[in-house]
Amino acid sequence: MTATNTEIALSARTIKKSYGDKEILHGISIDVAKGEHIAIIGPSGSGKSTFIRCLNLLEVPNHGEIELAGERVFDSASKTPVASVRALRKRVGMVFQSFNLFATHTALENVSLAPRRVLGLSKEEAEARAEKLLDRVGLKAHMHKHPSQLSGGQQQRVAIARALALDPDVMLFDEPTSAIDPEMRVEVLKVMKELAEGGMTMLTVTHEIQFAREAADRLMFIADGELVAMGEPAQLLDDPAHERIRRFVSAINGEI
Ligand SMILES: Nc1ncnc2c1ncn2[C@@H]1O[C@H](COP(=O)(O)OP(=O)(O)OP(=O)(O)O)[C@@H](O)[C@H]1O
Ligand SMILES: [Mg+2]
Repeated sequence: MTATNTEIALSARTIKKSYGDKEILHGISIDVAKGEHIAIIGPSGSGKSTFIRCLNLLEVPNHGEIELAGERVFDSASKTPVASVRALRKRVGMVFQSFNLFATHTALENVSLAPRRVLGLSKEEAEARAEKLLDRVGLKAHMHKHPSQLSGGQQQRVAIARALALDPDVMLFDEPTSAIDPEMRVEVLKVMKELAEGGMTMLTVTHEIQFAREAADRLMFIADGELVAMGEPAQLLDDPAHERIRRFVSAINGEI
């Protein structure tokens, strides 16, 4: 974390989410400081994706409140929406496991589309911005290629550049490397690490424990829709008191 102040970028209070009559998230709360990077780990099906999707209202929580930089953007008690979803998504970027790039568009076009459509930039302005971002993720030389001509790691870096193109305040990552060949993962993790070091506020769901240890300020362990533990990564991962986390980490290390 570059910021030493406690300015809160994102605050979520008692987020609950049900599908049908099954409650998946049982009331998760979190305050993310500006510039902080939080890694989220936990067993499959525990609600990690559901939780971060709630933060940009890809899933609408059944209960809870969300604030961005102190501004209420969601309140389940409010009968009317407190902010437009469109405005919120501009401020909270997201990168998914599957890159979801437009196959018929080049990398440059994929990154420049949203700034043109959402921010109303001209083609030239949007492409200049896209070129800079593609350079930042190490893909300037590939900017005129289509997704099928790029590796998984390269496609994911295009997806990161695309999310950054709206100049978000917060970035959400949902297992950004799990669909990528192991040798290509490192280049994506490097870009994410640089982003975090550059002061971006980030929440990353990941199974990359080493990355979480090195690149996150805090680690959040979710199990069965509850926040079980939250703290400094090394402390949480190495403290024998956190038996459940240790068992989880051993299990994923064993799987790999
Ligand atoms: N759209 C949906 N409709 C119904 N149930 C859902 C839906 N999305 C998720 N669930 C259920 O909610 C629970 C939590 O799912 P979620 O995808 O958030 O888990 P996760 O922790 O991200 O798991 P993984 O590590 O496998 O990605 C699971 O039981 C899942 O089946
Ligand atoms: Mg998931």
